[in-house]
Amino acid sequence: MKIGILTSGGDAPGLNAVIRGIVYSGIQTSKCDDFIGFRNGWKGVVENDITPITRHDIKGIHKLGGTILGTSRTNPFEGNGGVDRINEVMKLNGIDAIVAIGGEGTLAAAKRLTDAGIKIVGVPKTVDNDLDATDYTFGFDTAVGIAVDAMDRLRTTGDAHGRCMIAEVMGRHVGWIALHAGMAAGAHAILIPEQKTSIDQILEWVTSAHDRGRAPLIAVAEGFALDVMTDVHSERGLDAFGRPRLGGIGEMLAPIIEERTGIETRATTLGHIQRGGTPSAFDRVLATRLGMAALDLALAGKWGYMVALRGTDIVDVPFEDALGKLKVVPQARYDEAKILFG
Ligand code: F6P
Repeated sequence: MKIGILTSGGDAPGLNAVIRGIVYSGIQTSKCDDFIGFRNGWKGVVENDITPITRHDIKGIHKLGGTILGTSRTNPFEGNGGVDRINEVMKLNGIDAIVAIGGEGTLAAAKRLTDAGIKIVGVPKTVDNDLDATDYTFGFDTAVGIAVDAMDRLRTTGDAHGRCMIAEVMGRHVGWIALHAGMAAGAHAILIPEQKTSIDQILEWVTSAHDRGRAPLIAVAEGFALDVMTDVHSERGLDAFGRPRLGGIGEMLAPIIEERTGIETRATTLGHIQRGGTPSAFDRVLATRLGMAALDLALAGKWGYMVALRGTDIVDVPFEDALGKLKVVPQARYDEAKILFG
């Protein structure tokens, strides 16, 4: 079987480890040794932009951030794309099946293509960790580690000046990065999209920490909104999927906190720093296992399925079970963290 691999959507640390897991396990087990990569996600499929992936190409790449194949947010049904074009490109290159590594947009496109008869299996990916069908996605652990390191640093400079520090992290629809990093760094408030909160409540937490002689630290997810806001904070236009580009809620909150409390306040937006660089050991292992399992899925002909982590096991789930369901932070997890606020 000849397998095409693509990475699509926003990158996440661990993408290269997945590619290596697929190719290396195929070669080691002699189950498959014919792999090609599509460059820049679905764009490479539509434009027939391919590159062979040999054992040499995957040497040591599990340690590298980004993706050796490149990525894009291209929708395979737009422009010159569509089922006929993708079938044509696969036939042209003798490709039997595709392993698509991507987030919800990628998997939704993969489902449509599978329904039209194209042989695809999926590997879920998002630093936000918001896919309900898998306990963890690779990239999340790395993003949390980077955010914790940044928050620890913000605390020392905050302590030095007696300032309130706001650390804004990624998390479009869900607050997993903010929750985990905020708890690990001992934040005095964690603000997440699932929990709209009043400014008065935030001021209470800030003041209470400050009154105890602490420099208050707030962890806020980019998708957080105050209870009086009708939408997320966005001042950077729309992305390729027509979604608002996020970032800046921390900067928006800082002057309000400073004015209302008299405590000097600074905000830092971590942004894409959380997605770059070398993956953590946890993400390397998870991504490698998912890649190996995705190859098995393809060899078993389980088209329309993706691999997922349940507990410590790698399982497979149909695309439809994985789509449209966000894994939000449960109320109990937030309530537990909230005991330590202020
Ligand atoms: O979905 C992952 C994510 O990192 C979100 O947290 C963030 O809002 C978005 O991607 C940023 O996308 P881009 O890299 O296209 O700016």
